[in-house]
Amino acid sequence: MSKRKDLRPDTNLVAAGRRPEWTSGIVNPPVFRASTILFDSVAEMQAAEPPQDGTLHYGRNGTPTTWALQEAITELEPGAALTRLYPSGAAAVAGALLSVLSAGDELLMVDSAYGPTRGLCDTVLKRYGVTTHYYDPMIGAGIADLIGEKTRAIFLESPGTHTFEVQDIPTICAAAQAQGVATLIDNTWATPLYLPAIGLGVDLSILACTKYIGGHADVMLGSVTATEGFAQRLERTRRMLGQSAGPDDAWLALRGLRTLSVRLARHQESALKIAHWLEQQPKVARVLHPALPSCPGHEFFSRDFKGATGLFAFVLAGGDAAARNALIDRLDLFGIGWSWGGYESLAVPGGFTRTATTPDFEGPLVRLHIGLEDPDDLIEDLERALADYPG
Ligand SMILES: Cc1ncc(COP(=O)(O)O)c(C=O)c1O
Repeated sequence: MSKRKDLRPDTNLVAAGRRPEWTSGIVNPPVFRASTILFDSVAEMQAAEPPQDGTLHYGRNGTPTTWALQEAITELEPGAALTRLYPSGAAAVAGALLSVLSAGDELLMVDSAYGPTRGLCDTVLKRYGVTTHYYDPMIGAGIADLIGEKTRAIFLESPGTHTFEVQDIPTICAAAQAQGVATLIDNTWATPLYLPAIGLGVDLSILACTKYIGGHADVMLGSVTATEGFAQRLERTRRMLGQSAGPDDAWLALRGLRTLSVRLARHQESALKIAHWLEQQPKVARVLHPALPSCPGHEFFSRDFKGATGLFAFVLAGGDAAARNALIDRLDLFGIGWSWGGYESLAVPGGFTRTATTPDFEGPLVRLHIGLEDPDDLIEDLERALADYPG
């Protein structure tokens, strides 16, 4: 499609990754299922080495279905060179970290990271000789003091899982760059549409495409987008680890991507309406939402993000975990289940592990994902469930 570089993000979302030479004029690339690719001669087979996007080589190295999604995500991140796909968001986090770390290295990991990301650091990375130090999500320029001789990477996740602190991404990236340290971000919450992270100085931007990119709660997929300086080692590591994504999942994610903008706008609007309503409820002590001034790092949200999405949390006033769980059970329109980013609303008990910091709130936490339902129905549902809360 258009190779214009000056397209606005919404137009880019429609045009990105569409190559007539890969699809013969079909609007969406078909699902190419392939392991073996046949060549006419040994010479032709040898000419396909090393594998490159756009040249069929072997199923694990992609087909037009996966190349189209990779290219589309790359085009949403100004300054990015390449995207690689993984079978889940967790696999993408692992693939990105393993591409920049070796035995003996130290990693600075944000204390508000997604639980399984912490788990990876505390088990597999530890076993392979990488030491992880957790840091305060609000550290900002103070990160420079934590960078030591062995520090090779700083991992950000903004906003933080379950607690929603927004990090000062450009300041952390500038400190890292000054000392030759790689920066990685889990950008699943905002997506490149609301936070083009590479433009802010990040080297590797990670998405659980399972969430908003897929958008329909029916696909497991991850991606990592890299700058030129990190592209080769990302691809080399992916290939050595044997990571690839199924074409059906890539197809679903690409279909989801095309409507990302309209879906996020609705998630944002409804979630904000509900967050403001919750703020007024006497049984709610605090609402944790990056677009609210009370959220730690709200000033960085206002400066760096182009929008908010549908995931946030609230702290109940009084009560305990059992009462909180009973409140979630009373909700009728909110499903109870892991993940988020689909068209449907979800509620789960909030919970987190911290080793470097303690969030400045107490009380049972509820995490909500606001879907595409009418927000007034969701408010009525929450109102009914809160009415019986003992707090
Ligand atoms: C912030 C964040 N990153 C990564 C992941 C992992 O994605 P996946 O479930 O596709 O492995 C999740 C899943 O909930 C997440 O919330």
